[in-house]
Amino acid sequence: MRPTALARSRFSIEPDQLEAGSFAAEAVAGLTKIPKRLPPKFFYDSTGSDLFERITALPEYYPTRCELSILRERADEIAALIPSGAALIEFGSGSSMKTRTLLDAARDLAAYVPVDISAEFLDAQAANLRQEYPSIAMLPVAADFGTAFYLPEAVADMPRAGFFPGSTIGNLEPPEAAVFLRQAGKILGTGAVFVVGVDLIKDEKVLNKAYNDSAGVTAAFNRNLLVRMNRELGADFDLASFEHHAFFNRELHRIEMHLASLKRQRVQVAGAHVTFRVGETIHTENSYKYTIESLQCLARSVGWTPLNVWTDSKKYFSVHVLKFTGEAVRRPQQ
Ligand code: TRP
Repeated sequence: MRPTALARSRFSIEPDQLEAGSFAAEAVAGLTKIPKRLPPKFFYDSTGSDLFERITALPEYYPTRCELSILRERADEIAALIPSGAALIEFGSGSSMKTRTLLDAARDLAAYVPVDISAEFLDAQAANLRQEYPSIAMLPVAADFGTAFYLPEAVADMPRAGFFPGSTIGNLEPPEAAVFLRQAGKILGTGAVFVVGVDLIKDEKVLNKAYNDSAGVTAAFNRNLLVRMNRELGADFDLASFEHHAFFNRELHRIEMHLASLKRQRVQVAGAHVTFRVGETIHTENSYKYTIESLQCLARSVGWTPLNVWTDSKKYFSVHVLKFTGEAVRRPQQ
């Protein structure tokens, strides 16, 4: 139940009384910045996760299909770069279809370690995979894959392979992507390989259509943030007066997603008053696009050596295999 009474009572809470890191605190902080923004992590409640699943099946949304086709076609070549007896560590394990291509191809994997913030999701996924791959130890880790986390003890002596599909790396600012890659290298260790899916810079029309589908699913996904704030924070966004606005920013080589106000208006969110000019937007997400070279350059700068890279026939998407030649950190002795 989402009690309106509770939500309403929040109107009287002063912004500085909001619990640090909560949806309310982060929403108010983002909406009172110039330009306004909201952290993309709040996209993924259960409605948002369902909408995202639907995005990946849209005719205009090419990344999922392209990546899957590369993984299927190149599974043997990719698997050949994964040492035998390795542990496969997936950063943010949302995509079991993609994972299966590697679990099937890399026959002698010893362990699979999905790392995801949602423990519930992880347990369900691990239970399914356990049935299908009885010889691979399923060792889920509930953690934010962007932070430092320790691998399970059981994989301490195994060679490691990382997996980071979905061009999720593109949802980080490039300097954050470098920090992420360095951190992943430290966790996976020297000599580890990393299979990374990265969307490529291409014809703007193709990019723009992918984030402006005709069925309006991406728009609904974006606006779900407003729906959530209304329901969970007692906000009073008039949904009809905000529009999904997504476009390729050529100079910054990224798709930007915004929610644009169609009129001048004032909205209340968790005790804060937020005013909008006509056309003013809330910036909700970026999806950076790379060239093969720009991604490899970023990877090299933080200790990863490119081993190989494949694209689909249209060169829309790339799957990289990198090897960590930088320095690893070891788990402290207990
Ligand atoms: N990383 C993918 C991309 O940027 C998937 C994704 C993340 C996405 N957030 C999104 C897709 C928001 C559409 C809208 O394309």
